[in-house]
Amino acid sequence: MKNKLEKLKKEILNNLEKVQNDSALRDLDIKYLGRKGKFTEILRGISKLSIEEKKKIGKLANEIKNELQLEFSKIKNKISNKNDNIFIDPTLPGKKIDQGHLHPITQIQNDLEYLFSSMGFMVLEGPELESEYYNFEALNIPEYQPARDMHDTFYIDDKDKKNDMVMRTHTSPMQVRAMLKYGAPLKCIISGRTFRCEAIDACHEHTFDQIEGFMIGEDISMSNLIAIIKEMMSGIFERDIKIRVRPGYFPFVEPGIEIDVSCVICNGKGCPSCKHSGWLEMIGAGMIHPNVLNAGNIDSEKYSGFAFGVGLTRLAMMKYGIDDIRLFNSGDLKFLNQF
Ligand code: PHE
Repeated sequence: MKNKLEKLKKEILNNLEKVQNDSALRDLDIKYLGRKGKFTEILRGISKLSIEEKKKIGKLANEIKNELQLEFSKIKNKISNKNDNIFIDPTLPGKKIDQGHLHPITQIQNDLEYLFSSMGFMVLEGPELESEYYNFEALNIPEYQPARDMHDTFYIDDKDKKNDMVMRTHTSPMQVRAMLKYGAPLKCIISGRTFRCEAIDACHEHTFDQIEGFMIGEDISMSNLIAIIKEMMSGIFERDIKIRVRPGYFPFVEPGIEIDVSCVICNGKGCPSCKHSGWLEMIGAGMIHPNVLNAGNIDSEKYSGFAFGVGLTRLAMMKYGIDDIRLFNSGDLKFLNQF
């Protein structure tokens, strides 16, 4: 036993000499002095010896253990002093930290929220997962109304059929939610993500952003609407943009209009983004239908209002001259880092 101990001590000290770093030292510690270490194993064997032997070997084993622990801590100090002496030049340039920034859609969204709040509009947010009631019925689109088909809706599979939920196909459901909450008169905008089960190409995406605006008061007319739209367009593009107004059908407005904006990507000459027409369909708008005011608990005899919805994604494409809508959700840093 005595020999075994002495031999192991030599072996450990030999190995200790070769140790260069912390992790090698730790490995050695575990190998010999750890719970399942070679040295610890021998110590365990002592209990089986006679009382006489136990005393002698026990004492020796303790001495060796103390000696070894001292050697281990010496080497540990040596290693850490060595690290302390490493020269660090604090004047060297540091590693560049990657920095993020706001997505181009968020930038436009912030600009518009600033613009509209300066005109006294409230800025609201609404749920992306919406009930069929607010997305359709409250907006004068009853079940079996053919207009529902135009929306290519993502229906949510609800096994219990307790709630009929959809991914909102537009931001218009917030019209009625806001009317119920705040009553008239009212001026709001709402922006955020909307979803449609679209075949994807350069100008269609299943997830895109819209901004909705509406104004309800006693004498609100179509001319207020046109004035606000012009203000919005010149605010975003910081120059005059040609628009054209034509009749449009949306069940929740009467009369309804569509406002097109001359394509700034091709300057109206025709390109894939404007389907070679020179115009981009950008804004759906009109005077809020009395049924919708009533669904929002607003007296349609006393109050009138306008509403519009714009594709924020389209706005961003025009502002930055982006010809493919798919880039926005691609997560491609080569694209995003340009903004
Ligand atoms: N919600 C309509 C759409 O997504 C746009 C719209 C909003 C039209 C408000 C009229 C009034 O197409």
